[in-house]
Amino acid sequence: MVCPMADDGAAVELIPEDLAPGDAKSRELVTEDLEVTRILSNEDPWFPLAFDRLWAEFGLQHEMEQREVIERRLDWHPVLAIGECWLRYEIILARQRGEFVAVRDHTAVVACREGAAHGVVHLSHVLVEPAWRRTGLAGWLRAWPIQTARACLAVAECPVDSPITLVAEMEHPDPRFPNRMIRLKAYEKAGFKKVDPAAMKYFQPDFRPPADIDASGGPKPLPFSLIVRRVGREAEDTIYGEEIRDIVTALYQMYGTGFREQDMTGLWESLRDHPAAGVEVALVPPSR
Ligand SMILES: CC(C)(COP(=O)(O)OP(=O)(O)OC[C@H]1O[C@@H](n2cnc3c(N)ncnc32)[C@H](O)[C@@H]1OP(=O)(O)O)[C@@H](O)C(=O)NCCC(=O)NCCS
Repeated sequence: MVCPMADDGAAVELIPEDLAPGDAKSRELVTEDLEVTRILSNEDPWFPLAFDRLWAEFGLQHEMEQREVIERRLDWHPVLAIGECWLRYEIILARQRGEFVAVRDHTAVVACREGAAHGVVHLSHVLVEPAWRRTGLAGWLRAWPIQTARACLAVAECPVDSPITLVAEMEHPDPRFPNRMIRLKAYEKAGFKKVDPAAMKYFQPDFRPPADIDASGGPKPLPFSLIVRRVGREAEDTIYGEEIRDIVTALYQMYGTGFREQDMTGLWESLRDHPAAGVEVALVPPSR
């Protein structure tokens, strides 16, 4: 099955095998009149709507990169190659009969080390219209980025069946923030797992405009947790230090393309305190 698309031919497919183990209900979703558009350029006529929706939900809380950073990422198409690393950014917009339904953005980062490729997809933001929540659409929005990883692997001339990891940065659970708990529960139910925060501290860069960062005395990276789905390995309950390092390196490489070097330095340094290669770290439920 293929969703109707914009005229660039880059169809978003409905591949049930890509759904997370807990997203079975997404198979039942009726998608016939759903128009799903893969936005690959900031010239795309749907870009302003998609960006505005994301910004209204996340930008004002400093939970989203500035528009110029997003536009630069869209300029990467088909990929940005940095050494043995390839990056591809996409926005996916869903509409029904012209009405906004959902939007998400994500970056695939393919790294090839010692001949072995690994695709890491950073799940940046997702927004589902309230009427479409708990319908199964969110499950597809969690699965479609796997296609982005495969597209990136293909452009990088790596096997498209290389291991793929989906990763989301999430705030730590706190019952005082019900929306946060809902996000965590949604990922947990789908089958995502959290890298045990007791074993490693992860920081997201400071998303404020550079002038605000400087005026406040420097960057203030935010403590987040990492929620992962290793596609095909969802039942495993541990992750090794080297795999965590690959994931975090992919995220910081992505951020490093849009943020100033001085705002990234502390983040790269934080890798020194991460679990060493060979150290096994627990994967725990995200809401715990
Ligand atoms: C987070 C968001 C995308 C989830 O969308 P969704 O369609 O509700 O997600 P799912 O269908 O995958 O939800 C799965 C599970 O999460 C839990 N859940 C979702 N909404 C819930 C609610 N309002 N109350 C309690 N549990 C809820 C339930 O366990 C649900 O499973 P169920 O419907 O079978 O009971 C949506 O709530 C949203 O757009 N929120 C605003 C933006 C946001 O927070 N984005 C995420 C961070 S980038």
